[in-house]
Amino acid sequence: MPTESAQTDTAARSAAPAAVIVLAAGAGTRMKSRTPKVLHEIGGRSLLVHALDAAAGTAPGQLVVVLRHERDRVAAHLAEHAGDVVIADQDEIPGTGRAVQCGLEQVTATEGTVLVTYGDVPLLEAAALRELVAAHESAGAAVTVLTARVPDPTGYGRILRSADGSEVLGIVEHKDATDEQRAIDEINSGIYAFDLAVLRDALSRIGTDNAQGEMYLTDVLAIAREDGRSVRAVVTADLMMVEGVNDRVQLAQLGAEMNRRILTRHMRSGVTIVDPATTWIDADVSIGQDAVILPGVQLHGATDIGERAVIGPDCTLRDTEVGEGAEVVRSHTLLAVIGAGASVGPFSYLRPGTDLGEQGKIGGFVETKNARIDTGAKVPHLSYVGDAEIGEGTNLGAGTITANYDGVSKHRTTIGRHVRVGSDNVLVAPVTIGDGAATGAGTVVRKDVAPGALGVNAVSQRNVEGWTLRRRAGTAAESAAREALDRSDATADASPAPTAGQEKQENEQR
Ligand code: UD1
Ligand code: CA
Repeated sequence: MPTESAQTDTAARSAAPAAVIVLAAGAGTRMKSRTPKVLHEIGGRSLLVHALDAAAGTAPGQLVVVLRHERDRVAAHLAEHAGDVVIADQDEIPGTGRAVQCGLEQVTATEGTVLVTYGDVPLLEAAALRELVAAHESAGAAVTVLTARVPDPTGYGRILRSADGSEVLGIVEHKDATDEQRAIDEINSGIYAFDLAVLRDALSRIGTDNAQGEMYLTDVLAIAREDGRSVRAVVTADLMMVEGVNDRVQLAQLGAEMNRRILTRHMRSGVTIVDPATTWIDADVSIGQDAVILPGVQLHGATDIGERAVIGPDCTLRDTEVGEGAEVVRSHTLLAVIGAGASVGPFSYLRPGTDLGEQGKIGGFVETKNARIDTGAKVPHLSYVGDAEIGEGTNLGAGTITANYDGVSKHRTTIGRHVRVGSDNVLVAPVTIGDGAATGAGTVVRKDVAPGALGVNAVSQRNVEGWTLRRRAGTAAESAAREALDRSDATADASPAPTAGQEKQENEQR
C-alpha cells in the first residue's frame, strides 16, 4: 500500500505543468530602494526565492524567470540561491503580456499547461498552484485565473463574469474600467494556468491600446473566449496568499503573516511556542518535536533545533545547530553547533565555528569563536575562547582569556582532557596544556604545560602591614582599617612602625 506522501507525489507528477513563468521584470519603484524589489527579504529568503520555491513545488518541466530591471544583480542572486531556473530577458516593450511572451521564448514544450506567477508574491504555496493546475486540466480549460474577493479592489484588474456568474468573460484593468466595473470586488491575482498553444497564439494578437500603453496579459482571457475556448476562475479565500509586495509597508505586513504561518506549522508539528507575538522564525528553520521556544526568540537561516531543546527567553540564533535537550538562554549565536544536553547563557555570544560538545557548558558573559569545546567541558563565566580546542571534561576558571591574536596573526590554544584552568588566566597562543594538567589562579600561560603538570607564574603575595594608615591618612579607608585593627587586637600593637626597608619598597612602588 503506498504511503500518503507517495500518493501526494503521484498527484503532483500527474499535474506537473510544462513550465512556470515567474514575472520579475518590474522596477518596484514604490519600494524606494537601491535593492531590486524581488531581492528584499521576509522569512530569511528573498521574495523571489519564495516565489520560485512555490513554482518549483509543481515540478514543472521548465522554470523560467523574466527579468529586466537590475537584471544582472537579480541573475547573480538566482545563481546563488535558486537551482534550475532559466532566465528570460524582457525587452523595452512594457506589460505583463510582453513579459510572458519573452518568457515563452525560453519554453521548449509545444503543448501542455503553463503557469504564470509573480516574483513579488511571497506567500503563494505550491499546493495552491497544484490545485490550480488540477482544476484547469480536469475542466479542459484554455485559461484558469486565480481570483479573490477583496474588501478594497482598488488598483487590481476586475473579473468580468457572465450574467449568471458562471463564466469568465475577461479582465478589465482598474485604469481602464468603468465605474460599474470598478464596483466589482472579484480581483485578478495575476496567477494563471494557460494552455500553452492558446497562450502563444493569443499573445501574438494583443496590442498596447489601453490606458497604460502596455501589452496586457489579461487580454488573453477575452481573446481565448472570443475564440470559443473555455475560460475559468478558481476563487481563493486566502487573500494574503496572493498578495504582492509593492512597498515596505506591505513587506512588513506579509513578513508578519509569513511568520505567523511558519509558527503555526511548527506548533502543529509538536513545538511549543510560548509567545507567537514575539517569536520570529525563518522559513528554512527546522525544529524537533517537544522543543520549547520561549518569548523573544529569533531563529534565522538554516538553524536546526533538536527535540526537547529549550530556547530563550530572548535569543537570536542564526545558522545554528542545537542538539536534543540542549538549553540556550538570552544569547546570540552565529554558525555555531551546540551539542545534545549542552547549555548556553545567559548573555553569551557564540561566533562562527563554535562547536560545543554534548553536555558541555558555555555559561554567562562568554564569547567564543572557532572553538571546539568537547563533551562535558565547561566555560562557565566571563571568558573569551577563540581559535581553541578544549578537551573532554575540562573546566576553564572564571575570566579565562585565550590571547589568540598577536596583532598580525591568529594562533591556536590547545587544552587537553580533564584540565583545570584557574580563574583569571591568560592563555597566550600558540600554547598547549596537556591532559589532566592544572594552572593556578591569575596565571599568564606563555609556555606549554605538560600533562599532569601545574602551571603557575603569579607573583607570590607580600603584605605591607599598616600601609593604608600611613599612605591614606585621613581617608575613610584609614579610619575603617584603624577601627578593625583596634577591635581585633586591643592589646597588641595594631600599627607597627614601618621598618626602613618597608618604607623604601613602598616608595619604589609608587
Ligand atoms: C497586474 C494585472 C492585474 C492584477 C494585478 C495583481 C495586468 C495587465 N494586470 O496588475 O489585473 O490584478 O497584476 O497584482 O497583467 N511585470 C513584468 N514586466 C512588465 C510588467 C510587469 O515582469 O513589463 C511583472 C512585475 O515585476 C510584477 C508583475 O509582473 O511582478 C505584476 O506587475 P504589476 O505592474 O504589479 O501589475 P499591475 O499592473 O499592478
Ligand atoms: Ca503589483
